Amino acid sequence: MTCIRAAFKSALAACGFLLCVCLGGCGKNNIEEEVKNIKIGVTVYDQYDTFVSQLIDRFNIYASDKEAESGIAINVEVYNAADSQSTQNSQVETMIDDGCDVVCVNLVDRTEPTTIIDMAEKNDVPVIFFNRELVGEDLERWDKLYYVGAKAFESGIMEGEIAAEVFKTDADADRNKDGIFQYIVLEGEAGHQDAIVRTEYSVSTIVDKGVEVEKLNYAIANWNRAQAQTKMSQMLGEYGDKIELVLANNDDMALGAIDALKAAEIIPEKWPVIVGIDGTDVGLEAVKNKEMAGTVYNDKEGQAKAMLELAYELATGGSLNGLELEDGKYIRLPYEKVRAEDVDEYTHNK
Ligand code: BGC
Repeated sequence: MTCIRAAFKSALAACGFLLCVCLGGCGKNNIEEEVKNIKIGVTVYDQYDTFVSQLIDRFNIYASDKEAESGIAINVEVYNAADSQSTQNSQVETMIDDGCDVVCVNLVDRTEPTTIIDMAEKNDVPVIFFNRELVGEDLERWDKLYYVGAKAFESGIMEGEIAAEVFKTDADADRNKDGIFQYIVLEGEAGHQDAIVRTEYSVSTIVDKGVEVEKLNYAIANWNRAQAQTKMSQMLGEYGDKIELVLANNDDMALGAIDALKAAEIIPEKWPVIVGIDGTDVGLEAVKNKEMAGTVYNDKEGQAKAMLELAYELATGGSLNGLELEDGKYIRLPYEKVRAEDVDEYTHNK
């Protein structure tokens, strides 16, 4: 089991101090209360996933900020499940045994949350699932289960809009001038909500925008750059310059496609239009360089912040009222389209 400890310890926590906390409007009756030491356990399906690791970096930064702001020590422990659901189940057990107040779970297998839910309920430890969405019925199984993520269909629609706009405005996009956008799709893991929905909506949106499309092929590359490079190299071998558009379910796979084009020594003027999703640092860089026509920003900052605020309130027994939970359980952040002209806004401000 890989355990990446990101422990934030304040002087207060280290000493286990009692503090006078001014409650109820700071009147004369100061109430003496023990300062709470919050412990948040986080387990990710794969620590090498670019998007997830950047989200966790942000989570750690926000935890640190919140600790400074609140004066309450926030200890975050991050575990890597390394793509094994049984490893992840054991990690959650360890976190509960270690006294975590809240557990944040990026499920390995989004159809297998039962063991985790049962352990959490038995020990009364709330769970925030994130990024890999379990089915609604599972989230309904206990009232202290939450989900933080994004609206998957929105990202597909935006990716399709970017592709359609390029086809309509850039005469070179239709390489063979047949008026049809010949495309391939690089898909994330089979069964992942974002992979299924992004593929479906990106293509249907291009068509809705009045652009005729022809699917040449698709390949599952599991969100992974190296796998996408391999799959793209194979498709380049098969279809060559017939490929006019690469719809990648995420930026890492779009970058894998670019790696394949570079490895095949194809000059950029002859590249297909490539669109991704995420706006990871490397993805934004490729949009800036015009290697990718655009990406769709998957708001890792917003998701990390929402997770941290929710975890904090749950751990301190605070109010969830300010958190805008849909159905009392979901926080979904919106996506945003990013073209070369918008990219600085994301690289500088986020
Ligand atoms: C992201 C991918 C990531 C996946 C992991 C998706 O929402 O767009 O980049 O690999 O989540 O679950």
